[in-house]
Order: sequence, then C-alpha cells, then structure tokens
Amino acid sequence: MSPNDHKKLEGRVALVTGASRGLGKAMALALGEAGASLALIAREEKGLKEVSKEAKTLGVTSESYPADVSRAEDVERLREAVIGRFGSVDILVNNAGVNIRKPLTMLTVEEWRRVIDTNLTGPFLVCRAFVPHMVGKGYGRIINTTSTMSHVATPTRTAYAASKAGLLGFTRALALELAPEKITVNGISPGWFETELTKPIWSDPRANDDLVSRIPLGRWGDVNDVARLAVYLCSEEAGYITGTDILIDGGYTTQ
Ligand SMILES: NC(=O)c1ccc[n+]([C@@H]2O[C@H](COP(=O)([O-])OP(=O)(O)OC[C@H]3O[C@@H](n4cnc5c(N)ncnc54)[C@H](OP(=O)(O)O)[C@@H]3O)[C@@H](O)[C@H]2O)c1
Repeated sequence: MSPNDHKKLEGRVALVTGASRGLGKAMALALGEAGASLALIAREEKGLKEVSKEAKTLGVTSESYPADVSRAEDVERLREAVIGRFGSVDILVNNAGVNIRKPLTMLTVEEWRRVIDTNLTGPFLVCRAFVPHMVGKGYGRIINTTSTMSHVATPTRTAYAASKAGLLGFTRALALELAPEKITVNGISPGWFETELTKPIWSDPRANDDLVSRIPLGRWGDVNDVARLAVYLCSEEAGYITGTDILIDGGYTTQ
C-alpha cells in the first residue's frame, strides 16, 4: 500500500464474504488498513474472529458474522444484523467460494449445486440484500472474486468454471443496472494463490511444478497483490472503472 492509500476509505463500511482466510482475509485487512469499517462473513466463526481481532489493531471497527452466503435465510439474517450495526454498507466484496474438482460423470447433483450456490447464487443473494442500502449516496463499490476460470477452463472444473463464468456475466449486468447510482461493479480474477482452496495443487510437488511451468511469471501470486487491487477499485480514483474484470494471474491466461 502506498502512503497515499492510508485512510482513503475512512467513513466507508465494507462487507467481505469469505473473510476468514486466504484472499478474503487479505482484502478485508487491506480495506481496514485503508480506514474502512468491516463486516466479515464466513461459515466458521473461529477464523473470522481472529481476522476481526487483527483488523481492530489497525484502529478500525470490525465485526464478524457467521453465515452461509448460499442460504437465503442466512443472508437475510445477515442483512438485519449488519444494517442494525452499521446503518448501511458502501463496499461489498463477494469473495466466498468453493471448488470441487471431479470429472463430469463423477460430480453429484449435490456437489454441482454446492459450487453454483456458493459461488454464483451467494453473490446474487448478498447483492440483492445490500444494494437497497447502498443506493442514493453517489458512491458504492461491488467487487466479485471471479477467476481465470471465468475466461478459460481446465478439465474437472465444470461446476467451478460455470459458476465463475456466470459470476462474470452477473458482474457486467449488475454494473449496467447500478451505473446510474454511481455504484461500480467489477470482477477481480485471481490466477494462482496458495490458499486452502488450492492446497491440492501446491501440496503435490508434481502438480505444483506442472502448474508453475505454465505461469509465464513462473511463480504463485501474493494475496496482497489482490488486496491492493481491491483497495484501488474501492477508491475514488477508480470511479470510472465498472463492468469489467481485472485478471491478476502472472500471464496465465495469455497463452
Ligand atoms: N486461491 C486461488 O488461487 C484462487 C484463484 C481464483 C479464484 N479464487 C477465488 O477466490 C475466492 C477466495 O478463495 P481462497 O483461495 O481465498 O479460498 P479459501 O482460502 O478456501 O477461503 C474461502 C473463504 O470462503 C468462505 N466460504 C466458503 N463457502 C462459504 C459459504 N457458503 N458462505 C460463507 N463463506 C464461505 C470460507 O470460510 P468457511 O469455510 O468458514 O465458510 C473462507 O473464508 C473464491 O471465490 C475463489 O473461487 C481463488
């Protein structure tokens, strides 16, 4: 973060889903470092509370809300709790996501639904709940964590690639809907970052070497790069960027 970023989001309230670890944690802490108050969401409370504690050391207000974003009743409960606490929300980061890697014929309907419901229906439910509390201010930011799989694909990722390509379409359509409100809606498409989600790859030396050999910059990404991009997209300076998707993938999708 540059010195100019310091406190540039002061007075803003940011809701981040999937904030208990990985990319969501990094984005939440960076938004907090930039001065935003935080509402942190994940299913398990333990990790969330730790992130919230860390955020408070940055001098910002931070609350954790255990909720499953794929469940409409959880999201409604979340809306009541967050609006009751903060009054409104300025920034939504729809980041919660899961991946199930299996060939099509081995994928159960339950697994298909779990991926689609978390990665695609979740952002829909969260936006539907909170957008009414974002309008009328002349500022608003929605970031959806898309993926290189919104743009390209690999075998055994049918559900994941479908959910992320769908999320990109959702991002574009919502950007058009909310442009009159000056609420920008963008995707951040991470390439490869060492998190719980990608453990099956980085923990397997052969799979890891194969992957790294296909990344032009020759390494895994740093979660703080995604976090800095999120802070920039939430800044006033990024107010003319909407309806797009920014790949941060070491060149992976250029080949
Ligand atoms: N890592 C990468 O290389 C990569 C690349 C491209 C895209 N992405 C995307 O980036 C996002 C974050 O991934 P990550 O790598 O940081 O994964 P991660 O470390 O596994 O973190 C996922 C986060 O989402 C939460 N979560 C999962 N299902 C949820 C649900 N139904 N409701 C609420 N929270 C839920 C998890 O907490 P609980 O389990 O406690 O709910 C956790 O906080 C995902 O959308 C992923 O698809 C990651």
